[in-house]
Amino acid sequence: MDDHHRNANRSAWDELAPIHAKSEFYDIEGFLDGTSALRGFELAEMGEVAGRSLVHLQCHIGLDTLSWARRGADVVGLDFSRPAIEVARHVARRAGLDARFEVADVYDAVRALDRRFDLVYTGIGALCWLDDLPGWAKVVHDLLEPGGRLYLVEIHPFTDVFAKDELRVEHHYFDRGVPFRDETPGTYADRNAITRHNLTYEWTHTIDSVLSSLLNAGLKLESFAEHDFTVFKQFSDLEFDPTDRTFRFPPDHARLPLMYSLRAEKLDAAPTVGIADQ
Ligand SMILES: C[S@@+](CC[C@H](N)C(=O)[O-])C[C@H]1O[C@@H](n2cnc3c(N)ncnc32)[C@H](O)[C@@H]1O
Repeated sequence: MDDHHRNANRSAWDELAPIHAKSEFYDIEGFLDGTSALRGFELAEMGEVAGRSLVHLQCHIGLDTLSWARRGADVVGLDFSRPAIEVARHVARRAGLDARFEVADVYDAVRALDRRFDLVYTGIGALCWLDDLPGWAKVVHDLLEPGGRLYLVEIHPFTDVFAKDELRVEHHYFDRGVPFRDETPGTYADRNAITRHNLTYEWTHTIDSVLSSLLNAGLKLESFAEHDFTVFKQFSDLEFDPTDRTFRFPPDHARLPLMYSLRAEKLDAAPTVGIADQ
C-alpha cells in the first residue's frame, strides 16, 4: 500500500480512537454494563463461537472483538492504530476479558500474529481502507485453519455512488483502484467532533471484486446476503430502529442495499480453477 495513503489514514484513525472511546455511538460504559456491540443479525449469521479461536482484523477500539470474547471465543484483535489498540486493551482490562490486541497493518497480519484461527471476523467500514483486495483475501486465507471460516459484514459498495448524506448520484461504482480523497472533519460517530487529521483515502470494492478475491484465494462461499439496513446514519432519510440498533429507510421510501454479509470457508487445498483477476 502506498505510504502516503497509509500514513494519512493512520493519522486520521489515531486521532479518532480517543474521540470514539468517549462517544455515545461506541458507548463503552454500556458495553461494560453488558451490552453487546454486535447486532442480532451478526450473531445469527456467524453462528456458534464458543471455544473457537477468532481474529478480528481492523478491530478499532475492540468492542466487537470483546463482544465475541464474551460469547466464549478465544479472541485476537488487530489494528494499525496504536491509540485504538490501547483503548481496546484498556476496555478488556476493565471488562475482565481475556483478549490479545496487536498493532499491525492488516497486510502484515500473518507475520505479526504467527498463528492460525478457526474464524476471521472483519468489516463494517474495514475494506474501504484497503487498496489491494486480492492481497487482503490471501491474508484471510493464510490466517485460517483448513476448514476455518471468514465472516465479513460490510457497508454495501453501492452506497458509495451517492453524495455524503443524500441520495444524489455523484460517484462511479466501477472505479477500481482510484482512491476517494476526503477531507471532511468530524466522524460518523460524532459529526461535530473537532478533528485535525481529516485527509483520508478510501476505495470502493465492488461486490464482484470481493467475491473474486476470496474465491481466487482458495475460500469457498457459503452464504451471501444483502441488507436494507445499516449501522449508522449514512443518509439523512434513514431512521433509527432501537429494536436492533439499525438504521432503515421509512416504509414509503425505496429500499436500497445498505450492507452485505458473507461467510466463506477455507478449502483444504488451493482451488484448481479460479476466477481471472479483474
Ligand atoms: C471503522 S473501523 C472498523 C472496525 C469496526 N467495524 C468498528 O466500527 O469499530 C476501521 C478500522 O480499520 C483500521 N485500519 C485501516 N486501515 C488499516 C490497515 N491497513 N491495517 C490495519 N488496520 C487498518 C483503522 O485503524 C480503524 O480502526
